[in-house]
Amino acid sequence: MEFLAAYDAIPQTDAARRVALLRQHMKDDGPVLLRELRADRPVFATPVGVFVTRMPDVVEVLSTPDVFTVGVYGPVLEEALHGPFMLARDGADVHWHDRAHAQLMLPAEDVLPVRRLTGRLADDALDRAIATARAAGRTTFDYVQEYAAPVAARVAREYLGFTDVAEETLHTLSQRVQRAVFVNPDRDPEVHAAGVAAGKELHDLVAGVIRRRVVGASSRDTARDAAHTAPDVPDDVLGRMLRTALPPGTGRPLDEERINHQLVGFLIGYQQNATQCAATALKELATRPEELARAERLAAEDDTAPFDGYVWEALRFHPFVPTTPRLCVREHVLAAGTPRETRLTPGTVVHAHMASAMFDETVVEDPYAFRPDRTPVHNMVLGHGAHDCVGKYPARAIVCEMVRRVLLRPGVRPLPGSERALDYAGMPYPQHYTVTAGTGASP
Ligand code: HEM
Repeated sequence: MEFLAAYDAIPQTDAARRVALLRQHMKDDGPVLLRELRADRPVFATPVGVFVTRMPDVVEVLSTPDVFTVGVYGPVLEEALHGPFMLARDGADVHWHDRAHAQLMLPAEDVLPVRRLTGRLADDALDRAIATARAAGRTTFDYVQEYAAPVAARVAREYLGFTDVAEETLHTLSQRVQRAVFVNPDRDPEVHAAGVAAGKELHDLVAGVIRRRVVGASSRDTARDAAHTAPDVPDDVLGRMLRTALPPGTGRPLDEERINHQLVGFLIGYQQNATQCAATALKELATRPEELARAERLAAEDDTAPFDGYVWEALRFHPFVPTTPRLCVREHVLAAGTPRETRLTPGTVVHAHMASAMFDETVVEDPYAFRPDRTPVHNMVLGHGAHDCVGKYPARAIVCEMVRRVLLRPGVRPLPGSERALDYAGMPYPQHYTVTAGTGASP
């Protein structure tokens, strides 16, 4: 039976069974379910919120922050970060001020240097993983644990500025916070408490990093305001933040506490995303041998743009953030003037389903075909609208380069026959992915 027929057959009063069926279908075959919803019930009201599945409606929700706020996960995110953060608020006082500051700290000019940094760290991690496998008599290694996660964390240390925090610590703590804030729909108290505790640990670690930098700088030049003008803090994102003074009257002062929230927030927005995207992009390419062969050829070219198109198209089939919830705070008519026009009341949770929107056959041409030259307008892997990814420039460089460095090694590929075998080990994020440890030398 198709999903909607089975769902409608359950009495409306039995909300628990309806929700269980919805979650089961979403887990077992989300794309099929979403295709049915787009066709037959594109704005789908359920006991756990209204699912919005068509591209124009998702765009409308994500572009109207005065109606659809981040109030669903905002309070949890701020509890974990121990202070205000842009992805937890809407409006001028926190969101736009902090976002403007973040955009200055994560500029487009970073793309090339971050790409070079990622390339160096990726090659080094591949060399190490291959050498370790050989020394242990193995012919494979774990792509997530030995490559994607450590490379992402090393980039966080060198580029974002988590200088002396262990990479394992960055990865595991950010995973707990991510899970508690974004993948805990029933607010499981244990998951929540673990996320808040991990956030506190990250906050305190970063407070130490900031203190050491400020004290180090001021002990070399006590006459200077070390927090804002120290000449020798590294040119990483934290160093930039410590050197930056905002003009008076532009909101809260950029003190150490606010810098702490920004930096830890960046890590939460980045570490798991980059790790998972590096794995799922490879998986999607490996399951399409002809596309993989083309991507391999393009990986060797100087102009990386055509190659990058393969990575973003691969991620369209498996985005890190398939759907993002918003809280409707004012009465609003969604999709006004269309057959799916729906009046939404304050207090309604609305799920802007980006993974569905990217396959909206009324907007996206031949959506199930793999087309690396699609317009980026139809790609929502980095979000959309008021809260779209403020780290989009480094994100594009890091994810693409992590995948490219692997494809430059002919012997390092997902285990034949197991290309789809991402192992989640009971977690919301892939924990293991077996790849062959073929040729050793970096190109
Ligand atoms: C590596 C791959 C990345 C992916 C796939 C990704 C994805 C996303 C998505 C989908 C959103 C929108 C979330 C929503 O609407 O609920 C977002 C927002 C955000 N991302 Fe990223 N991101 C990545 C990397 C980064 C990096 C490198 C940074 C910073 C260093 C970052 C910082 C942020 C922040 C701060 C926001 C919230 C912006 C706001 O509230 O206005 N992300 N990201």
